[in-house]
Order: sequence, then C-alpha cells, then structure tokens
Amino acid sequence: MDTVEIKADELNAAAFIEKKAREIAETVGKGVAINALSGGVDSSVVTMLGHKALNERLKTYFIDNGIMRQGEPEWIVDIFKKLGVKVEIIDAKENFFKALKGISDPEEKREAVTRTFYKDVFGKLVKESGAKYLLQGTILTDVDETVAGIKRQHNVFEQLGIDPQEAFGYKIIEPVVQLRKDGVRKLGEALGLPKAVFSRMPFPGPALAARVIGDVTPEKIETIRKATVITEEILANAKAFQYMAILHQDRVTGMRDGKREFGMQIEIRCWDSIDARKAVPTRLAYETLELLAGRLTKEVPGVVSVTYNIASKPPSTMEAI
Ligand code: XMP
Repeated sequence: MDTVEIKADELNAAAFIEKKAREIAETVGKGVAINALSGGVDSSVVTMLGHKALNERLKTYFIDNGIMRQGEPEWIVDIFKKLGVKVEIIDAKENFFKALKGISDPEEKREAVTRTFYKDVFGKLVKESGAKYLLQGTILTDVDETVAGIKRQHNVFEQLGIDPQEAFGYKIIEPVVQLRKDGVRKLGEALGLPKAVFSRMPFPGPALAARVIGDVTPEKIETIRKATVITEEILANAKAFQYMAILHQDRVTGMRDGKREFGMQIEIRCWDSIDARKAVPTRLAYETLELLAGRLTKEVPGVVSVTYNIASKPPSTMEAI
C-alpha cells in the first residue's frame, strides 16, 4: 500500500501528535517497545512521541556505533535527561567496525550498518527487554529513494518486501513515515524539543561511514570526525540545508615543511534544499572556502587537498556514498 504524504503546510501538529500517540499506545498494548535515539531530528521526534504514548514502557537507547560525530552521545543524553527521558548508551563500537571491515562498495557498507543495527544490536536489546516493537523515525524521503533503487536507506524494510518480524524477530512502528523533514521539524517544535534539536541539519543513519569513500577503519573515522568538527563550525552560519566533509579514498601528492606528503583529500559539500529531494550547492563566499582549506589542511593530520562540490542533485546525491 502506498503511503499517503502529509505536506508540512497541511500538517496540524497537535492533532497529529495526539493521533499517533493513541495509535502507538493501542498497537503496543500492555507490552514494552524500544527505540534508538541517534540525536537526529527524526529519531528525537519519535522518542518524544513514543514517550508521550508509552511513558516508562518505551526504552530508549543511544547506540554508540563508533561512527558518530564528536561528543554526540553526551550531548544528546544530556538534552533528553532535561526533558525527563532516560536514555541508555549501548557500546556497540566493536560490532560496527567488525561488520564494516574491508567493505568498500557503498551499498554493501549500508547493508553492513543496517544488519548490525537491526539484527545484532536491536535483536539483542529486544530479547533482553522483552519488547515486541521497535519505534523508528523513517520518513517519506527515505522510502522514496530506497524504493526507486537510488540509495538503500538504512531504515526501510517493509516497502522493500522485507518482514522485520521474520528477519529480526520484532515489529517496526513508523509514526512519521507520511512526513518529510520540514513536517518532522514542525512536530519537534510542537513536542517541546529545543530548537538546537528540531532545527538540526539532517545526518544519515550510516553516520560517518557514509562520509568515508571506500573501506571504513577507526583511523579514517577519526580523520573524518576531526574534519567534520571544523566543517560544521565554519559553515554553521551558512544558512544551508546540510553540509558535510567527505574523506576520499585516492591520495594525492602534497608537500609539507619542504617534504613530499602523499596525503588525503577532503571534499566539502554544502547544500541548499527544501526537502532533500533536489539540492543545489550553496554559493559560499570564497573567503569561507579558503578558511575551510586552511584549517582542514592545518588541523587534520595527513590532509593535503580540499575541494568543494559544485554539482547539483540530481544527478549528484547529497551524501557521497
Ligand atoms: P541523498 O544522499 O540520498 O540524501 O541525496 C538525502 C538525505 O537523506 C540523508 N541520508 C540518509 N538518512 N539514512 C538516513 O537516515 C540513510 O541511510 C541516509 N542516506 C542519506 C542525507 O544525509 C540527506 O539529508
């Protein structure tokens, strides 16, 4: 069955929240559900919705997969603590690095992240908690691109004919699947999330693994994590929909302190977009680009080249993998 879209300007946030909370409560009944909070807008909204519906019967976890941005677990756990929602951190770094080891094909990387989340990590959490349901923040754009075969988003199953109950042993509830990012932000505001959360730029489920071209290692993640801190700091005021640093696989010849350095290349992407379906590169000031190049080559060890992507989506996509 096709999902019926609700456009942001047609969305009555308060009524939608009441309806979804009621539906979640009815579906889960007297049982327990779990959800994973990543700190992104979608999972934060679903966490608030789920707690409104189930209170203590929703167990919320932050899966520390080792491929998140710097300081992310502490930041988000602290915000939700202030909102009265307890979040348990699950250390799953080893599971993810093991699953990603030696894989360089983009779709295989996405598949490895998906399998580790849903089968290994959630499978175990479901067993331990006795939950029969996983609540998650799939949105319509995730479904569209996956079904169209453009990019397998990490959180789409039923629309691909995969039964989560059969594949992983639990059912999945997707309360915001009729919405796009702008609609989810509207819900976030109505649910009382701080602006720093509901207006946060999107970040992909496969996290920094999506920002490394080729195989993923803890060392490469450390490089892209450092580059991401600098990029996000410099572009925070660019008024863009989303911006990112990408670590390329190919090395290039550079020079430092009079010596040859066969170094790494970072690509910067910064997008203007409404809903991520189409996007154009932001017309950044040349001074901003120079600042990015200067700081990235100086502060991230081994980086000798910085480029800015100037192609639009389509035919580009926003993430590089
Ligand atoms: P693309 O790269 O497909 O990205 O143009 C469109 C938007 O979706 C985000 N994205 C993802 N989000 N799981 C997610 O939750 C994923 O696997 C995924 N891949 C891409 C991307 O950051 C952009 O906002």
